[in-house]
Amino acid sequence: MAGKDALLIGIDVGTEGVKTVALDQKGELIGSAQVSYTFEVPQPGWTEQDPEVWWEAVKKSFGLLAEKGIDLQRVISIGVTGQMHSAVLLSESGEVVRKAILWNDQRTNEECEEIKERIGMDDLMSITCNTVMPGFTAPKLLWIRKHEPEIYARIAHVLMPKDYIRYRLTDVLAADVTDASGTALFDVEERCWANPIIGRLGLPPAWFPPVYESSQIVSAISKEAAEESGIPEGVPVVAGAGDNAAAAVGNGIYRAGQGMISVGTSGVAFVPLKKLPSVQDRKQGNPTVHLFCHAIPNTWHAMGVTLAAGGSLRWFREAFAPGADYSALVQPVETVEPGSDGLLFLPYLTGERTPHDDANARGVFFGINLRHRREHFTRAILEGVSYSVLDCLQLLETKTKEVPSFVLTGGIVNSGIWSQILSDVSGKELQIAAMFEGPAIGAAVLAGIGIGTWKTPQDAVRGQSAQSRRIAPDEKKQAMYQTYFQKYQSLYRTAKELFY
Ligand code: XUL
Repeated sequence: MAGKDALLIGIDVGTEGVKTVALDQKGELIGSAQVSYTFEVPQPGWTEQDPEVWWEAVKKSFGLLAEKGIDLQRVISIGVTGQMHSAVLLSESGEVVRKAILWNDQRTNEECEEIKERIGMDDLMSITCNTVMPGFTAPKLLWIRKHEPEIYARIAHVLMPKDYIRYRLTDVLAADVTDASGTALFDVEERCWANPIIGRLGLPPAWFPPVYESSQIVSAISKEAAEESGIPEGVPVVAGAGDNAAAAVGNGIYRAGQGMISVGTSGVAFVPLKKLPSVQDRKQGNPTVHLFCHAIPNTWHAMGVTLAAGGSLRWFREAFAPGADYSALVQPVETVEPGSDGLLFLPYLTGERTPHDDANARGVFFGINLRHRREHFTRAILEGVSYSVLDCLQLLETKTKEVPSFVLTGGIVNSGIWSQILSDVSGKELQIAAMFEGPAIGAAVLAGIGIGTWKTPQDAVRGQSAQSRRIAPDEKKQAMYQTYFQKYQSLYRTAKELFY
């Protein structure tokens, strides 16, 4: 049923919840629903989630949309997105064989070293275009082979979280180029599985499903999913994308000269690329800059990823202010001067990817004095995460020089105070879209591109930038923050040896 009432659905399987949005064919947001959950920390540095929790949350989000008066019978295409790298392992019959090990899990240091040794940095950088870091998927598979051989023996399919949701909706196994880029088993330049690397690691190539461009239609809603979801059988479902690429699509970010900063559970600095850097440049550059396929054919992106961004604030709230709402927690930081009266925070609660690639790093509060109150600690967190994003931006500097203004997305946009701190710390002008639902919007845009509603993301989000809010850095504060940022950087260098 095309026509003016038709709806495009985007589903985002996040780390802290599912968000489902409905867009009309003009790209207007018609409704959204959110269902929260948490992740498990079975040991320090480990993080896991049961994929069944995601599926239940997705179904509940459909119910919430229906309760809001959205007629799911009007849906004409669906796109999926979600947390990247987290390994969903299925048996031959499609059962989940163990909880998913998540993108911010740090247990696989040894396996990363093993992969670097077996494959060699030269092949990793020329084929997968990336080093291998603990959150990526391949080392998780090697860890399970070593520590859980009975589970390993049952694995028949490896999926990313959003692929699992697509599988539950359609019964079809598939991957997309953006999420596959984060497995360390993908040829990012050729946009296909790196079978020679998969083979050299002793993993069965058959585990990895057919891979699609993000807006390609993979399959359609099955009869069973139609009964469970209220969406008509046969509605097409596109491949979708990892959450960062999808958030970029949802903000119209896919061309050189544009950039995005996302602060959700993780923090990300993201720039689209028309082509990948040369193999030589990849080998000489900082390997913690991720080079992945973007969600638009023939485009890629570079990004820096700090693991515990909003995640640091969430941890702080749970540990020290349980039940407080975020605005009550954050508002008082306005009474604290930039620099938090000498209190510094390193946000490495789950180790760090960019710029350190250090699974052993941990969070630090440094410089506590008797005047410090809860608001100083909260402000130190907002500043520490902003320094970590600045670390990522600086590594992308050659690309970001041409970016006049960064789109800001993720939970941070709900806090004017934190968004301003980030602008002051980074010295960047930030732009907050009127419709900031993030990755879910991008997934719905990809669903629309897949069925021909739009040709490009820009067609879908046209008009949005005119409505966006702009935040400019305060030059005086930026200068102050530069001094604190240097201390922040040297604090890690000093603490590094003590983490081990
Ligand atoms: C990206 C990454 C995170 C997750 C968060 O490489 O690991 O941004 O995708 O959901």
